[in-house]
Amino acid sequence: MNVWFLPPAAIAIAAQLAVGHACGQAAMAPGTESGFALFQKKCTTCHGNPAVERAPLPEAIRSMPPEKIYEALGPDGIMAAPGASLSDPERRRIAEFMSGRPLGSARLGAASAMPNQCRGNPQLPNPASAPQWNGWSSDAANHRFQSVAAAGMRAQDVPRLRLKWAFGFPAGVSANAEPAIVSGRVFVGSDNGFFYSLNATSGCVYWSFEAGSTVRGAATVASITAHAASRYAVYFGDGRANVYALDARSGALLWKSRVDEHFVARITAGPRIFKGKLLVPVSSSEGFSAGTPDYPCCTARGSVVALDAETGRRIWKAWVIAEEPKPYATQPNGVVLSGPSGGSVWNTPTVDPRPPGSEGWGTVLPMTGGFQTTEPVQGTYTYSISCAGA
Ligand code: HEC
Repeated sequence: MNVWFLPPAAIAIAAQLAVGHACGQAAMAPGTESGFALFQKKCTTCHGNPAVERAPLPEAIRSMPPEKIYEALGPDGIMAAPGASLSDPERRRIAEFMSGRPLGSARLGAASAMPNQCRGNPQLPNPASAPQWNGWSSDAANHRFQSVAAAGMRAQDVPRLRLKWAFGFPAGVSANAEPAIVSGRVFVGSDNGFFYSLNATSGCVYWSFEAGSTVRGAATVASITAHAASRYAVYFGDGRANVYALDARSGALLWKSRVDEHFVARITAGPRIFKGKLLVPVSSSEGFSAGTPDYPCCTARGSVVALDAETGRRIWKAWVIAEEPKPYATQPNGVVLSGPSGGSVWNTPTVDPRPPGSEGWGTVLPMTGGFQTTEPVQGTYTYSISCAGA
């Protein structure tokens, strides 16, 4: 057994036979989400307030590394005054939530700093030539099953699995992303803002890519033709609603596309590739603030976005709630409430390729969480969107 790199938050992501399956949805870093409520309470009086012109918008603070936000709030920082009303753990929580990654991750996460780099980096063989688990599930219907041939193992082999290697995400706090195993490589995101490609047999690392924010959904690999030097692309989304296509062999960025403008919009599940389109589920962290009286709840809406898998160009965006949120009440504390909102899409869309009528039509089935309207109703539902050529 080879153990390459084992910081306190180390996570074993592969067993002796590669099986890409991890159930459960753990929270992000413990307590980190409460950083958002703290930000609403202590910071939005200026940040996001048009009357305070020089204060960067919350969205601009979200694109800063956690170290910069943490330092700004410290005794010598530019935000020492608001920072003084916070404890050190609270300052850390704000910094980590707003940036979407743990303190220290930018310095430690790059593959180039790791001792276990792969010696060569050959072309990827055809994915069909090796066992694989590509994306969140083995097919467009989101089945959690694959055949003996595709898995390269039988059910009765499972009790005999033993740890072969382990890989730790430097500065990582929790592991949410399901690894994709394609062409003998592991593709996996982490909450430290980096995305990694490893050798499935040895655990050596081919490359890392710094997305800059948590990557907590499964990645998907597919062939690509529009980029001369690239044969396969790996696709995933991050905690700031960016979608990336990287060259699967080298990790080079092919395109990046933002799929939602809301400042707490994020991608919490893997995209689905279907007939040349990348179907991306969009959710948000706004629910964490909904119970804070100071927060002007709520304006984020879930959606599914279709991108051209070759270029990242947006083809369509289907909102779970079609109506745009607008103000509907003012609380006694002066905070204006808006709605309807919610309907985050938390999972990889399921595609039903059967045509409801004409050829080229499909139905995308995103699973959503709760939603809120201006009426006093709450609910959870599964939603289906019929789109031309889905
Ligand atoms: C009283 C208004 C006010 C409050 C409250 C406030 N800020 Fe600021 N903040 C500002 C202004 C104004 C600037 C721009 C300062 C400048 O450029 O000189 C700023 C700048 C910043 C910067 C950028 C620092 C840099 O180096 O560029 C960060 C990060 C920041 N604030 C975080 C916060 C956080 C987090 C909170 C809540 C704990 C907070 N601020 C509360 C007014 C405020």
